[in-house]
Amino acid sequence: MKMALGKHHLSGFFLLLCFLWARSVELKASPSCAFPAIYNFGDSNSDTGGISAAFEPISAPYGEGFFHKPAGRDSDGRLIIDFIAESLKLPYLSAYLNSLGTNYRHGANFATGGSTIRRQNETIYEYGISPFALDMQIIQFDQFKARTNELYKQAKTPMERSKLPVPEEFSKALYTFDIGQNDLSVGFRKMNLDQLRAAMPDIINQLASAVRHLYHQQGGRAFWIHNTGPIGCLPVNLFYKHNLPVGYLDQYGCVKDQNEMAIEFNKQLKNQVIKLRTELPQASITYVDVYAAKYGLISHAKNQGFVDPLTICCGYHVNDTHIWCGQKGSVNGKEVFGASCENPLKYISWDGVHYAEAANHWVAHRILNGSLADPPFPITQACYRH
Ligand SMILES: *[C@@H]1O[C@H](CO)[C@@H](O)[C@H](O)[C@H]1NC(C)=O
Ligand SMILES: *[C@@H]1O[C@H](CO)[C@@H](O)[C@H](O)[C@H]1NC(C)=O
Ligand SMILES: *[C@@H]1O[C@H](CO)[C@@H](O)[C@H](O)[C@H]1NC(C)=O
Repeated sequence: MKMALGKHHLSGFFLLLCFLWARSVELKASPSCAFPAIYNFGDSNSDTGGISAAFEPISAPYGEGFFHKPAGRDSDGRLIIDFIAESLKLPYLSAYLNSLGTNYRHGANFATGGSTIRRQNETIYEYGISPFALDMQIIQFDQFKARTNELYKQAKTPMERSKLPVPEEFSKALYTFDIGQNDLSVGFRKMNLDQLRAAMPDIINQLASAVRHLYHQQGGRAFWIHNTGPIGCLPVNLFYKHNLPVGYLDQYGCVKDQNEMAIEFNKQLKNQVIKLRTELPQASITYVDVYAAKYGLISHAKNQGFVDPLTICCGYHVNDTHIWCGQKGSVNGKEVFGASCENPLKYISWDGVHYAEAANHWVAHRILNGSLADPPFPITQACYRH
């Protein structure tokens, strides 16, 4: 009797142990990834000071909302990449090209406004295309990693190391991409739609090459890749446009052909991501439908508390006169400034090309919890291969 009771107790205790063990495994299966760093590649949608450092600084009223001064960003405040940093509890990223006041302990940003995936044969002084195409951003990353590793090893004090990435953390970092929009805009300028369609596989393949390089040569494992937004909904498309043919715009006032190209880009990008997952067995690659989030906001602007998505907050725009945000111009002999609107929180478009902070926040809120991601997991889980 006593024996049996003891046995019973023992097996009960054993079950409890099993339960605790199983629970700890279950909990361990999906803790936050605790990414120690973010390395970002992209264009003005995620540039946190690169093009401002390399060329002319982006002037007021850019940055006036959140930073209360120009902050190297093409918006009144934070960009999606800033909300990504916040959600991973990391500081905002310093631009690699910025030589002053930077801290790379938790990553670096290689994005520059005007960047394309493919190299372009034009200078920034023509249409604002950045000389730092994606391949050059990757070369800069290689150099950044090699040089910071060397400096880290040479450093003699914790102080000297405090602004440098920890070498072992490169393989644990999150690698983020938001690029391709300018390949489309250059395409619209220089090619017809068939030519642009024909160029698409090469554009996508060059983005895939960047991912392969980071994986094979640099040990990158976690990738978070934004698709491209509804470029045809940018208000700039409608500046100086008159008598548009019937059917040129969709029901929200977006240029249909342009959005169709963005959709084609995204379709090919998603297929490429699926291929990369089989090709890179240890990579976790998340494809993020930024298009759906941005188009969702544009199509529901009113009930989400925003004004007409095709109006802009910053810049002077009357009839056929457009003075860009932060620029001066003259209208009927009078000097006019491209000023900011009264309530930027109600605008989707900040300057006709770039989103206002409130819109970036709205979009970030929808993409970071994983509901528009493939696989559908929040960014804090992006280190796992699901
Ligand atoms: C740039 O010019 C080179 C040499 O003429 C050409 O091979 C390349 O395709 C051009 N690239 C683009 C994007 O137009
Ligand atoms: C804009 O166009 C309207 C209609 O043609 C005209 O009445 C108005 O004066 C114009 N505004 C400016 C600032 O030129
Ligand atoms: C993500 O957030 C959006 C907006 O708040 C919400 O509609 C959606 O259900 C959320 N998805 C998940 C998976 O939590």
